[in-house]
Amino acid sequence: MEDKKKEGRYERIYTQLNELVRKSENTQARMATIIAVLHHKMDYYFWTGFYLIDDGKMTVNMYQGPVACQILEKDKGVCWAAFNQQKTLVVEDVHAFPGHIACDSRSNSEIVVPFKNKAGEIIGVLDIDSKDKSSFSEVDARWLEKILELVYV
Ligand code: SME
Repeated sequence: MEDKKKEGRYERIYTQLNELVRKSENTQARMATIIAVLHHKMDYYFWTGFYLIDDGKMTVNMYQGPVACQILEKDKGVCWAAFNQQKTLVVEDVHAFPGHIACDSRSNSEIVVPFKNKAGEIIGVLDIDSKDKSSFSEVDARWLEKILELVYV
């Protein structure tokens, strides 16, 4: 999808989520709703979900899409890289990313955004995969970071 079209789409999603999340103070309810809206409104999203650190393990949390790896091998792949570097990573071709963990061979590009708790500590990541190469850009990164802030508004 072109960046210009993405901007409009994300703007509408943000407005909708901004209203929806305020109906509950529950963090899990907000996270689940963000995943559901994003996954169903963005047609290039193939897998949409959270991986959170649980007892030192990067463990799958709420998600939509095909069944995913339950635990990601420590310090391997894109999720761990984004978590360790504490920044959003956009990967145009996952097969070219050293150590990429292929939970589903149909994924070709992805974006991983660090996810914080209320205190501002990074506790995991939001991971989104696409079947196409180069699906994600700086526009996705900017909007997804903004959307994640809605978990605590
Ligand atoms: N691609 C991720 C693994 C998780 S799946 O994409 C759902 C990674 O390399 O960290």
